[in-house]
Amino acid sequence: MPKKQYGVLIHGAGWVSTQHIAAFKKNPATKIVAVSSRSIESARRQTNEAGLADVTCFDDYQKALAHPDVDIVSICTPQHVHCENVLDAAGAGKQLVIEKPIGISLEELRLMQHAVQSAGVKTVVSFVLRWNPLFRTIKGMIADNAIGRPYYVEADYLSHMGSWWQGWNDARTLAQGVSAMLVGGCHAVDAMRWFAAEGEFEAATPTEVFAVSGGYRKGSKHEYNCLTNTWSDDAPPMEYEGLEVVLVKFSNGAVGKVSVNADCVMPYRFPIRIFGDQGSFFDNQVWSHKYVGQTDWVKLPTILPDSTDVNHHPFQSEIDHFVECLDDDVESHCNLQDAIKTHEVVFAAQQCYQTGMPSHLPLA
Ligand SMILES: NC(=O)c1ccc[n+]([C@@H]2O[C@H](COP(=O)([O-])OP(=O)(O)OC[C@H]3O[C@@H](n4cnc5c(N)ncnc54)[C@H](OP(=O)(O)O)[C@@H]3O)[C@@H](O)[C@H]2O)c1
Repeated sequence: MPKKQYGVLIHGAGWVSTQHIAAFKKNPATKIVAVSSRSIESARRQTNEAGLADVTCFDDYQKALAHPDVDIVSICTPQHVHCENVLDAAGAGKQLVIEKPIGISLEELRLMQHAVQSAGVKTVVSFVLRWNPLFRTIKGMIADNAIGRPYYVEADYLSHMGSWWQGWNDARTLAQGVSAMLVGGCHAVDAMRWFAAEGEFEAATPTEVFAVSGGYRKGSKHEYNCLTNTWSDDAPPMEYEGLEVVLVKFSNGAVGKVSVNADCVMPYRFPIRIFGDQGSFFDNQVWSHKYVGQTDWVKLPTILPDSTDVNHHPFQSEIDHFVECLDDDVESHCNLQDAIKTHEVVFAAQQCYQTGMPSHLPLA
């Protein structure tokens, strides 16, 4: 039984918000009371399409925050406004669901960290793959010693991000998107941290990063559409490099390799390799010391992280988890403090491109 019903404000009425709305609608402990966006038309359209009743629409975030029934704010705006949205909501004492990436600079991470700590509010960051069924199965098996101690993890975000995504026009620029790793690859960084730790609800702490970047697509108007398998020649160009390869050392001794490849000409893939001292995972296949006499890989029949479509992502599980955290007065394993460690890897990689040297974390 829910302990309380929480009023929810959805802020930023675009693609990802459709799934936040659907998840809050289904959770019996939450009620969406307000939707705000840059334009009132978007807020109203989203409200109508979702069939929400008794909802107030706003094009003014401050007024929306002042709605007396708002307990939780779900931040679904583009990444370059997340920090100011978080500071305002934390200042108003609201609990926070924050879309990734949480911010676009190290300074923003520190500002949000301070604001959330000072306000004493709870947060969950939408590294939603932590709730993907394959991720949950693997994490449970690692915690159950299926592969011994993970000592090396690889995760890759292979997505020709482009104009097929309506958020691309914000995300493709240096000023607002910063890098391919920040925009999309941060999911793979988070997966690497998640699988490099043995605890079921624990992510590893990165201590050292070395990175190189490359690819061929930066500045080009030639763009592939992986959904239709077609090309266009007048696309707004991506202002940063599409390929980044990052090596990470963790405080528990594990090592990781993560890449983002926004230049790849192929459908979306998110491959995972986890090597333990008593077994391994290759995506949904496992080789384990527990299966005595194993002669072939054991395949786990479950849902893989193989789609970019937001309606494939397990937002329901993320939102249900956050409501449980609020009810039980505990922090999420995927709170802002934890997500900062994932983002620091991304910003450390940026430092490596400048210095040609490894970066040590936490970043100064
Ligand atoms: N966790 C995941 O797997 C996942 C998946 C997809 C996206 N995301 C993240 O979610 C965020 C939003 O992405 P999206 O795909 O939903 O983008 P989107 O479709 O462009 O939606 C963003 C919405 O925010 C509104 N907006 C823009 N600037 C604003 C401002 N200054 N103040 C208030 N509202 C503003 C826009 O509303 P108007 O229509 O009113 O102008 C737009 O509809 C991004 O950070 C993205 O990386 C995460």
